[in-house]
Amino acid sequence: MAVSSYTLSITFLFVAFLSSLLIQAQAQPGFISIDCGTSADVNYNDYTGINYISDASFINTGRIESIASEFTSYYRALSTVRSFPEGKRNCYKINITRGSKYLIRTIFLYGNYDGRNTLPMFDLLLGANRWDTVTIRNASREQYNEIIYVPTLAYVQICLANTGTSTPFISAIELRTLEKNTYVTENGPLEPYHFSRCDLGSTKTYRYKDDVYDRYWYPCDFQQNWTSVQNASITDNTLHQSDCHPPAIVMSTAVTPANVSAPLVLSWMTENENDKYYVYMHFTEIQVLAANQTREFNIFLNGNPRPKTFSPQYMNVSTLYSESAISGKEITYLLEMTENSTLPPIISATEIYRVKDFQHSDTFQGDVDAITTIKSVYVLTKDWQGDPCFPEDYLWDGLNCTYRDDSPRITTLNLSSSGLSGKIHPSISKLTMLEKLDLSNNNLDDEIPDFLSQLQQLKILNLENNNLSGAIPSALVEKYKEGSLLLSVGQNPNLCAYGQCNDKKKKKTNIITPLIALISGVLILLMIVTILWALKRRKPKVEKLTALMVEMGENQISRQYTEQDDALRQPKKQIYSYSDVLKITNNFNTIIGKGGFGTVYLGYIGATPVAVKMLSPSSVRGYQQFQAEVKLLMRVHHKNLTSLIGYCDEGTNKSLMYEYMANGNLQENLYGKDNKLNILSWEDRLRISLDAASGLEYLHTGCKPPIIHRDVKSTNILLNEHFQAKLSDFGLSKIFPTDGGSHVSTVVAGTPGYLDPHYYISNRLTEKSDVYGYGVVLLEIITGQPVKARNRGNIHMVEWVSSLVEKGDIKGIVDSTLEGEFDINSAWKAVETAMACVSLDPIERPMMSVIVVELKEALATELARTKDNTTSGANSVEPVNMNLDTELAPLAR
Ligand SMILES: *[C@@H]1O[C@H](CO)[C@@H](O)[C@H](O)[C@H]1NC(C)=O
Ligand SMILES: *[C@@H]1O[C@H](CO)[C@@H](O)[C@H](O)[C@H]1NC(C)=O
Ligand SMILES: *[C@@H]1O[C@H](CO)[C@@H](O)[C@H](O)[C@H]1NC(C)=O
Ligand SMILES: *[C@@H]1O[C@H](CO)[C@@H](O)[C@H](O)[C@H]1NC(C)=O
Ligand SMILES: *[C@@H]1O[C@H](CO)[C@@H](O)[C@H](O)[C@H]1NC(C)=O
Ligand SMILES: *[C@@H]1O[C@H](CO)[C@@H](O)[C@H](O)[C@H]1NC(C)=O
Ligand SMILES: *[C@@H]1O[C@H](CO)[C@@H](O)[C@H](O)[C@H]1NC(C)=O
Ligand SMILES: *[C@@H]1O[C@H](CO)[C@@H](O)[C@H](O)[C@H]1NC(C)=O
Ligand SMILES: *[C@@H]1O[C@H](CO)[C@@H](O)[C@H](O)[C@H]1NC(C)=O
Repeated sequence: MAVSSYTLSITFLFVAFLSSLLIQAQAQPGFISIDCGTSADVNYNDYTGINYISDASFINTGRIESIASEFTSYYRALSTVRSFPEGKRNCYKINITRGSKYLIRTIFLYGNYDGRNTLPMFDLLLGANRWDTVTIRNASREQYNEIIYVPTLAYVQICLANTGTSTPFISAIELRTLEKNTYVTENGPLEPYHFSRCDLGSTKTYRYKDDVYDRYWYPCDFQQNWTSVQNASITDNTLHQSDCHPPAIVMSTAVTPANVSAPLVLSWMTENENDKYYVYMHFTEIQVLAANQTREFNIFLNGNPRPKTFSPQYMNVSTLYSESAISGKEITYLLEMTENSTLPPIISATEIYRVKDFQHSDTFQGDVDAITTIKSVYVLTKDWQGDPCFPEDYLWDGLNCTYRDDSPRITTLNLSSSGLSGKIHPSISKLTMLEKLDLSNNNLDDEIPDFLSQLQQLKILNLENNNLSGAIPSALVEKYKEGSLLLSVGQNPNLCAYGQCNDKKKKKTNIITPLIALISGVLILLMIVTILWALKRRKPKVEKLTALMVEMGENQISRQYTEQDDALRQPKKQIYSYSDVLKITNNFNTIIGKGGFGTVYLGYIGATPVAVKMLSPSSVRGYQQFQAEVKLLMRVHHKNLTSLIGYCDEGTNKSLMYEYMANGNLQENLYGKDNKLNILSWEDRLRISLDAASGLEYLHTGCKPPIIHRDVKSTNILLNEHFQAKLSDFGLSKIFPTDGGSHVSTVVAGTPGYLDPHYYISNRLTEKSDVYGYGVVLLEIITGQPVKARNRGNIHMVEWVSSLVEKGDIKGIVDSTLEGEFDINSAWKAVETAMACVSLDPIERPMMSVIVVELKEALATELARTKDNTTSGANSVEPVNMNLDTELAPLAR
């Protein structure tokens, strides 16, 4: 078999287009033909008769240029270009019929238009997707990109993107509407493969008007033993067409094997064996067959026969194609005549396409419409072109998107300092997935519109430093109060709080509520977001983030708390690189704890010891607001809260640095350690309880609105070298929002034994949930026993203590290792306080401030006893060594 000798590699001749036939001016339905780089009034008919118009109405950026005269072409549209020396991405926006199938063609003829004689290279984008990298290879040759595509929007955006090497340009854009039932694929748009459209047996190139769709058909030069055949009487009038509608002139020529008994073979290598191809073969019989003649053949694709033999019919076009994509290293079609056939196989034309992998869908239409309106309403000078969210490296400046859904959605809009004036435009409310909106430092006036409160996802709204007036909508104030919205409205002199405006229309008002006093002209001091979580029926349920915040004057805060703060001075530098972290921890030399969020290492910044918590990659993965949240946490200062003094944020290498707490956590000092060297005295215990209560009180009432710790437990209370207690891990639930799959969720979901039972019913965590957890801790402190202990038959602490309280057995309650060294009244006071904290009904639980008062009394009673009784060793407790294995966070220096 001489099959291999007939295997051909089709090479294509590039033959100049037919120049000829000036056809009368006539708009072509379904065609959009754009001559790029021309003035707005340009409108002419090309040599083909196609009507070309200027590109001026499709784009308003770029420069008009002409190619050098020696390159001037018969093809008028290519004599000018539009170039884009400015902007990363410049886009043509062309209205089309949504859902129609288009052949889109871009043409580039460099022609040394810029006098630099340097062949440019740049990216070509189609909407949200990268279409191709255009590499100009020859200044005098036009290059094409073609795609068969069904746009999902009512327009297409064709963008020229600067990849940093050269200035993009374009010569012409052509859109042709195709029949919907042609070129149907299961896999997306098609691009021609190797100048796919091959007019076999021809020596010329054809397009419109021969081709009603203006496809370009090239003659294919075959060095194979094919014989060209043709029949000039095949015309549009005589030919019966297929849906694909190959031009009659193309169908009038064909090839057959020169050796009549040999098969006809079409074969080509693919670039990538996983690419998907679609091949269309156009057949017609061009001669009238005699009664004793038959032309019948089998078609094999990579050796597999089509189920039926094929016999082209006279003047009747048949287009054969495979309905699903073809892949492989090599694609071979073999046409072999059947036994009964008297004539060899014949073929007129082929088309070879590769599926273009357009993975991105366009940004959600509603978002695009809204942002486009915003751009035009505020006359923004931003370089906002093309799809807002895709490709990701071309994301619009000031925007962030979420890519979770089918279509990307806009989640952040930052128009700070963008010169906005006028009202806050309603189209902002159409960005329904918006989480952050920053309109600060503009000249916006009029009232804050109510529609902002309709944005369900909005968590941060910054309207500072504008000219807004009137009342803040009550719904926004409500969200702010309940902690779901971080609202900043400072430096808007004419704003007043809801209910405080005597006359809405009256601009100037001096009645300023405390809320406004706090808000206006000051900075957001800190923000903690808690995640509400659920263990409803032992099934974790994740709730939405709740943003809580405190706004106060910066000066005011630092004045207030430098006094309270202990001697720890914050190192100036707060952001550390990963290599710093390696140095600080001496390559993670010493582990001092393991917590739910990661491992804690001992480190030194200068001579100051620090606890470095390396966050496990799974807990930080995908977490984007890390920096912002951590910066806010760093501004929370109270002597009974562990200070966050720095952090590292390099990809998944995220860590938090805390002051080092020398005496570890409370639990190990109570009962956690096997060899307990020191026993905390009753006075120590009361002081620690008081410290922890003060820390919580500060979170609950020193901050407005309150911060809920959500995980109060004895391992989250740390002791420094003076046995001063500090709460740790507050705010971390904000930094690690749980998603269902994260292992973190079980950790931040509170700790069994400390979890407010009311939470099961209400599904809502409040300050009173912290009070419950605190009550349990207080009972641990009093009894020196774990929440559940085997020697009590695993009865929960609360239940166990209640039974003893009923019996009035205070000695049975207080830690027996104290050997009765405590004041009975003081102990009763502490127990009563603790029991009030663990009341089932949250309303019956006291506020932390009440607890502080009660414990102060208990401490005073105890101090009165020890003063009278000099045997006490109240302050004689020596530091204990740290247990390195306990779950622990910041340890003390
Ligand atoms: C495209 O369509 C939009 C909306 O229908 C219209 O406002 C705009 O003027 C059109 N653009 C052109 C160039 O026709
Ligand atoms: C560019 O193309 C022209 C014809 O189109 C050819 O004559 C010339 O040799 C080509 N130049 C290069 C550098 O390939
Ligand atoms: C074509 O056929 C002729 C004789 O039939 C032979 O001499 C020639 O080598 C063949 N050419 C190719 C490329 O197969
Ligand atoms: C023609 O093709 C047949 C079948 O492939 C082969 O046997 C024969 O040798 C070929 N003839 C010539 C002249 O190449
Ligand atoms: C071309 O077609 C005509 C009829 O339209 C037919 O008479 C003629 O034989 C055909 N020519 C060839 C070479 O087959
Ligand atoms: C077909 O019939 C014609 C006469 O009509 C004759 O000349 C020719 O030889 C026949 N061809 C074959 C292959 O039988
Ligand atoms: C053209 O061929 C198709 C089958 O390929 C057939 O169904 C149709 O009737 C033919 N049309 C004419 C006009 O012969
Ligand atoms: C060839 O033609 C004969 C007579 O028409 C028929 O019986 C036979 O099945 C055909 N063979 C094939 C392979 O089509
Ligand atoms: C968008 O998100 C990235 C990654 O989280 C962040 O670095 C960037 O600052 C955000 N951009 C805006 C405008 O918020």
